[in-house]
Amino acid sequence: MRTHHCNELSESHIDQTVTLIGWVNSARDHGGVIFIDLRDREGLTQCVFRPEENADAATLSHNLREEDVVQVIGKVSKRLEGAENAKMATGAIEIVASDLKIINKADVLPFQLDKELSNEDLRMKYRYLDLRRARMSKNIRQRSKITSAARRYLDDSGFYEIETPILSNPTPEGARDFLVPSRLNPGKFYALPQAPQQYKQLLMVAGVEKYFQIARCFRDEDLRADRQPEFTQIDLEASFVDQEDIIKLVQGLLGAMFKAGLDVDIAKEFPRMTYAEAMDVYGSDKPDTRFDIKITDLADVFAATEFKIFKGVLEGGGVVRAINAKGFATITTGQMNRLNEIAVQAGLPVKNLAFIKLENGEYKSPLWKIFSEEEKAAVTAKMNLEEGDIVFFAAGSRESVSTILGRVRSECAVMQGLNEGSDKFNFLWVVDFPLLAQDEESGEWVAVHHPFTRPHADDLGKLESGDFANVRAQAYDVVLNGYELGGGSIRIHEKDLQAKMFEALGVSPEEQQIKFAHILDAFRFGAPPHGGLALGLDRIAMLVSGEDSIREVIAFPKNNKGADLMAQSPCEIGMKELREVYVQSTYKKKDAPMVGE
Ligand code: AMO
Repeated sequence: MRTHHCNELSESHIDQTVTLIGWVNSARDHGGVIFIDLRDREGLTQCVFRPEENADAATLSHNLREEDVVQVIGKVSKRLEGAENAKMATGAIEIVASDLKIINKADVLPFQLDKELSNEDLRMKYRYLDLRRARMSKNIRQRSKITSAARRYLDDSGFYEIETPILSNPTPEGARDFLVPSRLNPGKFYALPQAPQQYKQLLMVAGVEKYFQIARCFRDEDLRADRQPEFTQIDLEASFVDQEDIIKLVQGLLGAMFKAGLDVDIAKEFPRMTYAEAMDVYGSDKPDTRFDIKITDLADVFAATEFKIFKGVLEGGGVVRAINAKGFATITTGQMNRLNEIAVQAGLPVKNLAFIKLENGEYKSPLWKIFSEEEKAAVTAKMNLEEGDIVFFAAGSRESVSTILGRVRSECAVMQGLNEGSDKFNFLWVVDFPLLAQDEESGEWVAVHHPFTRPHADDLGKLESGDFANVRAQAYDVVLNGYELGGGSIRIHEKDLQAKMFEALGVSPEEQQIKFAHILDAFRFGAPPHGGLALGLDRIAMLVSGEDSIREVIAFPKNNKGADLMAQSPCEIGMKELREVYVQSTYKKKDAPMVGE
């Protein structure tokens, strides 16, 4: 239906007769002569309808409306001097139309496509129109580019692309499962996979050696800007590898993806940081290292303090730590309130953060008069407290201080605009994660990654002796600008060690047999050492496109209530259909209690 696309024609095509097809991006009437910008996914070309070329076409062109689908035949001509548009790839030429076919008329649109729209519900309801906009069209293209680059890279590296079941069993990745009733097996349910973790390990037992999949994953969890209930992983696994092999492979993979998406060369090797350092110094297991605010320990400064709160915390085995937000003494009352709110949400037991700021040579702080002269001098030196700075303190357990100061650190960076610069890519490996963590409420031990993660060889004795808090995992996360892009580990491949891990997690031998017999069985028959990782494709696409929500890089995302406003999903299912799958709904009516409550 076309000879060229709408971003293709230049002065080298002058005098050629061409056929273009696409949407009317805009139409203007200049004294009876109609100009349109015709758009297809590649770009725009100006077409002009003059009565002297073809009276019928010119008459027809008066009816054109934005987003009508039209086909234009005409001659490529040089634009009049002064009428060129340097911003447009085809801005030196125009098509002098000799024929016009209106292929499909468009109704008045629910919103203008050339303006940013803040009403996200409206965008989602008409997502197919939203996706026509230049920004979204660019995002979709970039996502496609990085996805195919990943496929090429992994294929070139000897990985087989293999699909694993979507209808499967619950997978312990830490979220709730989406369940699907089975008509053929009354009373039984499939769970949609949170990740293909167990299948990819079984493929290693199957002798595949190198597997990857662009895998849809499903997790019923609270949604955020970087979380969707269904999302896509670049999931990979390899046999006979160690942590170093996976790290090298993934650095190359991300390099290929960023080259394809943005034509940039990212670092060949990413810096590494232990989990302990990430938490102590940045207060996060996915630190944004684009800004240099670091958490500093002040135990030595306050070793002999008379300040009761710090003294009590230090004597009780806690920590006193601080960050210096350089140049942020200008903080407004509103910003201060916001920081206090965030600190309280993060676990600060009092209403306000303790701070010291130095403004016009004057120390302003509720604390300053409490500190001794030595403490003042030591804080100033250790925190590098200079004119215009503000230092925030937190005292308490090591974990809670990290969480509080980590959140305050990130928020200060947002307020100071330090986290901007989407062209700066600070990749980072976080390594040596703990294997297990204690659930605050139940006191039970849970896997920090998942139960298949291999303990550090040096820490196996601690797993035996029940010193769970100090067992490190052979697990690694790849982080970019404060986002966790991916995570993986070397796995357990021995039946006994796997059973020991389940035992540590409180999974009884009977439950192990019910839930994990296939894995434990498979490990009896010569399972190779193996390991892998999964990257969040949506998050990578988001960062490549310079967006701050993965909804902007997913063609048909869900809103923060897990709904697709265009397709109106999820939807109600009739009693008949439910009966067919042996399901009875206990849900009565909106906001009413469940039946039986
Ligand atoms: P993990 O649970 O860390 O690891 O997931 C890997 C990556 O997937 C992305 N991700 C998400 N993206 C969007 N929405 C979500 N709800 C969501 N949840 C996770 C993140 C994350 O880093 N089986 C292991 C991998 C392995 O051990 O090989 C796993 O799934 O970018």
